Amino acid sequence: MSAFKAFNFTAGNTQRLLATALAAVAVATATATATATANSSGNWNFNPSPSPKGSHASKALLGFAASKSVDADALKNTLEAKQSAKSQEYYQSIYNAIAQKIQDEDDHDDGSFGPILVRLAWHNSGSYNQHDFSATRGGSYAGTMRFEREQKDPANAGLTLAAQFLEPIRQKFDISHGDLYTLAGVVGIQEMSGPKIKWRPGRVDLPEESTPPYERLPDASQETGDYIRSVFADRLGFTDKEMVVLIGVGHGIGRCHTSNSGFDGPWTYSPTMVTNEFFKLLLSEEWKIRNWSGPRQYAGGSGLMMLPADMALKKDGKFKQYVEEYAKDEEKCMNDFSVAFAKLLERGVSFGDIKPMTFKTLDEQEE
Ligand code: HEM
Ligand SMILES: *[C@@H]1O[C@H](CO)[C@@H](O)[C@H](O)[C@H]1NC(C)=O
Repeated sequence: MSAFKAFNFTAGNTQRLLATALAAVAVATATATATATANSSGNWNFNPSPSPKGSHASKALLGFAASKSVDADALKNTLEAKQSAKSQEYYQSIYNAIAQKIQDEDDHDDGSFGPILVRLAWHNSGSYNQHDFSATRGGSYAGTMRFEREQKDPANAGLTLAAQFLEPIRQKFDISHGDLYTLAGVVGIQEMSGPKIKWRPGRVDLPEESTPPYERLPDASQETGDYIRSVFADRLGFTDKEMVVLIGVGHGIGRCHTSNSGFDGPWTYSPTMVTNEFFKLLLSEEWKIRNWSGPRQYAGGSGLMMLPADMALKKDGKFKQYVEEYAKDEEKCMNDFSVAFAKLLERGVSFGDIKPMTFKTLDEQEE
């Protein structure tokens, strides 16, 4: 339990004081039931009413003076202090642990856990609804993807494997679930030769009551641009161009599994490399409905696939101009993806003064 992990600090008084305050926060957070809500600007508020049991426990455990209660601002400030107290070096060491585990466990799928970690980061963040100001607004902030309830959303089929892959690393370090799952997406992209993704810590684990409702993530059988906009623009706040780059680069890696989604196969010939190949293939191949007993999907190339939702990127005139641009210009594609993916991971999260960081790949550290 993270409340007690905080006591593992070995250094002096300041850190111990911080650890004590943090433990109180952790106890209060753990026992509060859905006390976090959102304010009108779309950021989270902490409601300063932990259950009586929680406040009692934190005072008794930590010897808090009766007059000192953990109020909302203190809670938020302490969390910010906690995050900024950790150096970039600390998060680089978590990055390295994830990257090393990806290298070590290379018998998954096409040889990498990278793609499924990117999908975990996206589904963990993509449940966000900018019009929902309740505790169930979703996104990566509350770390609710750690609960079976969210993992059982049919859209998340298969992602428990990714969460399990990361669990030993979470136990070794002091990091919230939302921070870990989003950081793992950054590692996946960068270690598969993708662009640098700016990232920062600041998400906290909130109770299961904060789990967002199902059906926020997109339905792959929908084949129109307006459907994609209903998810990515209306709920998540992205532009047409951002949606195109997110979907096209995201589906340049990994594959579909009949056991997860019912769909089958990879989109590109290089499913463990981040590229603009998806855009090139979408334009160059002749995509035909696959004749099989599974759900409607398209076949092209030698054994490649497109989802109906992927085909919408070509059918919608406004989307298609961006597909053409990204097929021609890989550098532009990677730069735009980097910005859009960082934005996706931060939807609905307020970071205070915490500044974005950039991490080195394992290769870059070898020199
Ligand atoms: C309209 C939007 C989207 C739809 C309908 C969609 C749908 C799907 C489906 C059905 C799968 C197959 C899952 C499986 O069977 O294991 C999949 C896989 C994947 N998606 Fe998406 N997706 C969308 C957007 C995105 C975005 C924005 C990203 C990331 C930026 C992304 C990244 C991935 C990755 C990396 C995989 C492969 C996972 C693996 O290899 O295990 N997708 N997606
Ligand atoms: C589709 O597959 C079935 C069974 O394999 C086959 O009998 C049929 O001729 C195929 N249809 C087309 C249009 O290829």
